[in-house]
Amino acid sequence: MVQVFSRIDQLREHLKTVRNAGRSLGFVPTMGALHDGHISLVERCVAENDYTIVSIFVNPTQFNDKNDLKNYPRMPEKDLKMLEGAGANAVFMPDESEIYPEPDNRVFDFGMLDKVMEGKFRPGHFNGVAQVVSKLFDIVEPHKAYFGQKDYQQLAIIREMVKQLGYKIEIVGCPIVREADGLAMSSRNLLLSPEHRKSAPLIYKTLQEARNKMDELSVKQMIDWVENQINADPNLKIEYFELVDTNTLLPVDSWNHSGGIIGCIAVWAGSIRLIDNLIFK
Ligand code: PAJ
Repeated sequence: MVQVFSRIDQLREHLKTVRNAGRSLGFVPTMGALHDGHISLVERCVAENDYTIVSIFVNPTQFNDKNDLKNYPRMPEKDLKMLEGAGANAVFMPDESEIYPEPDNRVFDFGMLDKVMEGKFRPGHFNGVAQVVSKLFDIVEPHKAYFGQKDYQQLAIIREMVKQLGYKIEIVGCPIVREADGLAMSSRNLLLSPEHRKSAPLIYKTLQEARNKMDELSVKQMIDWVENQINADPNLKIEYFELVDTNTLLPVDSWNHSGGIIGCIAVWAGSIRLIDNLIFK
């Protein structure tokens, strides 16, 4: 039976007994509306830890768009069933007032990591993510925490935050889980109209085709090619496609770049914003 907590003090008390019994504690933070991508993180956490706790909290401070926050899907009953099935031990579902009894005014500095790509188009987003994840880490104090590579930039920022704040938490990055047609799973996929849902797999298909064209096209030509492919579908509109270093997230200008290269993309499908990425080398 999965145990549900909504109060910080009660959760802390409970987790203390888990830790004192010498059990390893794994943590999966989420915003709910769970799908198989989230569940893959939970299953990995269950496999690698004695005790798994999942949080479900739609964090207002990371939404730069009020409508996105209002429309974000919420389905706690279904989520609990899925977590039960995946073998989670506990779920933390706090109210906003529990996490933010007063406004969080902390401002983080992640150098360039939070200025590029998502950071450029979603001002304040990663500051809000860092606010809530640091609060959750302080409450849960896990040994390991699990994040998806679907949000590649978020994962890089969480690793940097852990370094800066000196948390003794191992951050585990997990592969992207996709629908059968290649679309990266996302809670926001539920909000797509049938036509937009039909067009959305073009995002991953284009990333894959692009990777196969590395011999033919320069980095600059590749960026244009991807933008044209996406925008050729009237249901999709590209926000950015960037080829960046896998560690610094700064744009590369040649395939001869010494480090790893990842292609990161954000696309509007109607009013829904989708992101995806693929390692190029
Ligand atoms: P959320 O979007 O609910 O995602 C929770 C975790 O699931 C994140 O680490 C995300 O990268 C991972 N995830 C989502 N879709 C995935 C997929 N298709 N494959 C693999 N992993 C996937 O990310 C957040 O919530 C929030 O920003 C949070 C970290 C909880 C802070 O509020």
